[in-house]
Amino acid sequence: MSIQTNMRCPIGVFDSGYGGLTVFKSIVAELPQYDYIYLGDNGRAPYGNRSFDTVHQYTLESVEWFFKMGCRLVILACNTASAKALRTIQQKDLPRLGPDKRVLGVIRPTAEVIGQYTKTRSVGVLGTKGTINSRSYEIEIGKFFPDIKVHPLACPMWVPLVENNEYRSEGADFFVKKYLDELMNQAPDIDTILLACTHYPLLTDKIKQFLPANINVVAQGGIVARSLEDYLLRHKEMESLISRERQMHFYTTDDPADFNEHAGIFFGQKVSSEQVHL
Ligand code: DGL
Repeated sequence: MSIQTNMRCPIGVFDSGYGGLTVFKSIVAELPQYDYIYLGDNGRAPYGNRSFDTVHQYTLESVEWFFKMGCRLVILACNTASAKALRTIQQKDLPRLGPDKRVLGVIRPTAEVIGQYTKTRSVGVLGTKGTINSRSYEIEIGKFFPDIKVHPLACPMWVPLVENNEYRSEGADFFVKKYLDELMNQAPDIDTILLACTHYPLLTDKIKQFLPANINVVAQGGIVARSLEDYLLRHKEMESLISRERQMHFYTTDDPADFNEHAGIFFGQKVSSEQVHL
């Protein structure tokens, strides 16, 4: 199917599936004036357990699609793609595909501010296996706050709990508690836990239920949105190109009906998506 858009230059927001809608929701709340295109690569999700090469290839194909759709600025609202594909795209692919275009991720903006949340300088980072094994958060947080000790942990059961709409069920308690116990046993001085996966904010209530009240549970949506606002203030040459008709278009590489059904959970409002083939 060929997709028509009359939007001049929307901001592209990418995720492996629906999860990035938690980040997109914050971006639209902070910066409602712009046009946006959201793409979920649901047909090939989840990315969490895939190899570097595969995540790079899938993410690159998606970025190229955004460029064809007129985007000059693309946000990878997916931790796994940010961890495994962003650097290669920025350093190797962009000079060839369009040196005037930009692709930004979610890890650096989060690393830049995480020091504001912790007093003990001991931070837990929860994510997919791909994000955790990449060590991206240790590396990035280390650049800004070398005094912070990062305690990473993969929580591979949490994405399926959310995707299958079991995130509020009693059944979810077991796996939420399991990973939190594992993390807190590793480092009882942790006072801040970063939810470094797009799906985990939906588990926030349950996560807090199993933690002492003094522990900060930090979701990324607001952080990424404020960072994007700051980026656009500092890069007027990019900001002036972005069209401002307050339009949002949603695309998925899988079944649009399925995307629309799930999207409400992550985005907080109904969406109507179209299918694309990358
Ligand atoms: N969006 C992914 C992330 O933030 C989670 C889902 C997936 O594994 O594809 O890491």
